[in-house]
Amino acid sequence: MAYRVGVLVSGTGTNLQALLDAEREQSDHPAHIVVVGSNRRQALALERVRDTSITVCVVDRVEIPRRVDRQRRLLEALRAAAVDLVVLAGFDEILLPEIVSAYPDRIINTHPSLLPAFGGTMHAVAAALEHGVKVTGCTIHLVTDAIDSGPILAQACVPIDEDDDVTSLRARIQSQEHQMLPLAVRAFAEGRVRVERNRARVVGWA
Ligand code: GRF
Repeated sequence: MAYRVGVLVSGTGTNLQALLDAEREQSDHPAHIVVVGSNRRQALALERVRDTSITVCVVDRVEIPRRVDRQRRLLEALRAAAVDLVVLAGFDEILLPEIVSAYPDRIINTHPSLLPAFGGTMHAVAAALEHGVKVTGCTIHLVTDAIDSGPILAQACVPIDEDDDVTSLRARIQSQEHQMLPLAVRAFAEGRVRVERNRARVVGWA
């Protein structure tokens, strides 16, 4: 039986698209996206699953102002879809502890910096540019109650060019995320993720 994945989004959904493409293009891809949750009704990400059989759960921030109410609905949707793994693909809210504890070591996030550098901010790409670092990148990590601090599964480096701006740098970081995120999902589905206290390892990470 295919490994069942729930994806939470807020924005453009290019990472969601990378996951959808992996599933569509790789005949041996072992994971199946069964539900997508969004806290924004207008999120472009939702267009990417229109006309598919994937369940969509919209908990719009204007329609449902309290985070606890929104996220409890998301949790219900994840449970109803019997997901094995939750992927935060540009989801812009801190998860309720009750969601984190419902899926121990089974929620992953992609963050656009080399954590622990530039964690805890929605503007990690700009922060790296402002700081003048010469290399940044992206990190796929397990989600815990400590923001952007869960065990790291994989990272990729992206050198910063002198003429980079947020748009150009973000594009190169995202292209790394788009490669890594499907590999991380595959690793979970194939049972190749090991977690010990604050450290994680993906067996056979390419
Ligand atoms: C990603 O770059 C990720 O690092 C950050 O949010 C962005 C989402 O982009 N957490 P998209 O919605 O997948 O295009």
